[in-house]
Amino acid sequence: MCGIVAYIGEKEAYPILIKGLRRLEYRGYDSAGIALYEKNKLNVYKRKGKVQDLVDFIGENPVKGNLGMGHTRWATHGQPDDINAHPHYSSKNNLAIIHNGIIENYALLKAALIKEGHTFKSETDTEVLIHLIGEIKEKSKVSLEEAVRIALTKVIGAYAIVVMDQTEPDKLVAARKGSPLVIGIGDNEFFLASDATPIVEYTKNVVYLNDKEIAIINRNSGLTIKTISNELQTPFVQKIEMELGKLEKGGYDHYMLKEIHEQPTTIADGMRGRVNTDLSIVRLGGLLQYENRIVKADKITIVACGTSWIAGLVGEYLFEDLARMPVEVEYASEFRYRNPVIGEKDVVLAISQSGETADTLAALELAKQKNAMTYGICNVVGSSIARVTDSGSYIHAGPEIGVASTKAFTGQVTLLTIMALTLAQKRGTISQSYFQQLLNELANIPAKVQKVLETNAKIKYIANIFKDSPNALYLGRGYNFPVALEGALKLKEISYIHAEGYPAAEMKHGPIALIDENMPVVVIATNKSAYEKVLSNIQEVKARKGKVLAIVTEGDELITEIADFSIAIPDTEEPLTPLLSVIPLQLLAYHIANLRGCNVDQPRNLAKSVTVE
Ligand code: G6P
Repeated sequence: MCGIVAYIGEKEAYPILIKGLRRLEYRGYDSAGIALYEKNKLNVYKRKGKVQDLVDFIGENPVKGNLGMGHTRWATHGQPDDINAHPHYSSKNNLAIIHNGIIENYALLKAALIKEGHTFKSETDTEVLIHLIGEIKEKSKVSLEEAVRIALTKVIGAYAIVVMDQTEPDKLVAARKGSPLVIGIGDNEFFLASDATPIVEYTKNVVYLNDKEIAIINRNSGLTIKTISNELQTPFVQKIEMELGKLEKGGYDHYMLKEIHEQPTTIADGMRGRVNTDLSIVRLGGLLQYENRIVKADKITIVACGTSWIAGLVGEYLFEDLARMPVEVEYASEFRYRNPVIGEKDVVLAISQSGETADTLAALELAKQKNAMTYGICNVVGSSIARVTDSGSYIHAGPEIGVASTKAFTGQVTLLTIMALTLAQKRGTISQSYFQQLLNELANIPAKVQKVLETNAKIKYIANIFKDSPNALYLGRGYNFPVALEGALKLKEISYIHAEGYPAAEMKHGPIALIDENMPVVVIATNKSAYEKVLSNIQEVKARKGKVLAIVTEGDELITEIADFSIAIPDTEEPLTPLLSVIPLQLLAYHIANLRGCNVDQPRNLAKSVTVE
């Protein structure tokens, strides 16, 4: 988490940094700060709060200079305040650093520096690192980049850093290990950022810095990359494709609302070139090379976090149901510290919108150590997970900026559906007629999602009724069980209402005790195979006076009659239901949060890209 951006060139750095920080604010928004080289001085301006608070603090006369860096923080060490905000100075205030990540051995390093006479202003691990760099530079009389390199050999943890030096007005030094860093190469100018969004406006040429690499950017001599063990590297320049318009709100009040409404398009984009109903073909480029290995795999282990983990659960139902393959879905954070039974005949599938989640990356590393084949399902092109996996597929949902994931979820589920269908066909576990039926229906999904979005006004009305409830329960069975989890997660993430998702029948083993006339219970009741069972679950809730909002299939009069409120979604094949049934739950969470006055796009304490454990 944390967003970092830096600029060196001929333009004024301040507006570039501020615009960049606004684009990166989804990564953290506890505090923001910049360092600028102005009139032979390295000046730092920082403030608790959002980027706007920093802008207000700097005021009408923004600082001048064409070398600078900025940071938007998600606190790991030390509470969010002005002092703990980045950038941090070295002990003599002649060096400054911005950092995304965690220095795990900071306490030991700090103790050693204190013995050398250092005093610290903040509680951060980052300030320790810049003091260490300063100490090495001074004592060993080495260049800035060499001091950074030596310091990093002493550090345990994850980092993307940028360092400036008051005596070096033409230089930026950056490094990464475990946290992302992209270098943009323009005309006589360079950019550094946590992702490409602050850069794309100025240049399409980028270099993704690899782990344990240091970039030295000099105004006159350009970009040099070396490893932490001091080996020179040849920069690999790539072209990025990203439309600037996709980074704006496009007339919507919030990114989240925009992203919910983009789903008919993003789901279609995820299928483009991969699903051909006329020829009865599904084709995933990333699968081709490893097809045999995946088709014959002993088991598929899905590793992911948050909403991506829930998409993985839908994947489990799909792979088992259609391709008859054994699947396990693991929280990446648990998997990485267990001793999982994984071998070379296993496939480990990592799902991640950002492609940068630290736990998912570490889970992949473990899978690699055990010689499993690794496959990544990511949204962000060029992200770490996309690069470290043996193969993979992008979901092509475009930049997702709202911290609560929406279009990435449906993109991931679409991709998993295509993958399950491909494997089912190869393994001969699906009849040609059912395969064709699912393909036809998959092609209809974008239009059906559009139809679900038309229920927006009704959902807003229902949101108004439920908005003051302190708790909510979400129930679903089969393919709709993960949807219940996702509905509950969306609500708690952005509205701060405590919500739980449960398998509908399991409710009797606990949550039923919570139900009274004040408890909203959202039941996803579109299942065909377990219709009567879900109906009984609804009656059990009603018998205890719970308020039921049912998500039903169009034309369902029975449940509509019993439920207090209902939202009807178009009929579809059961394995495709999550792509439709999740949409009203996204909208419900959005409207409830908005009506409660919550910051929908930047909910408290959360960050979109969790690059620390
Ligand atoms: C954070 C985000 C979630 C996301 C999760 C996993 O918690 O707020 O929306 O689902 O990280 O992120 P990933 O990028 O790996 O999908």
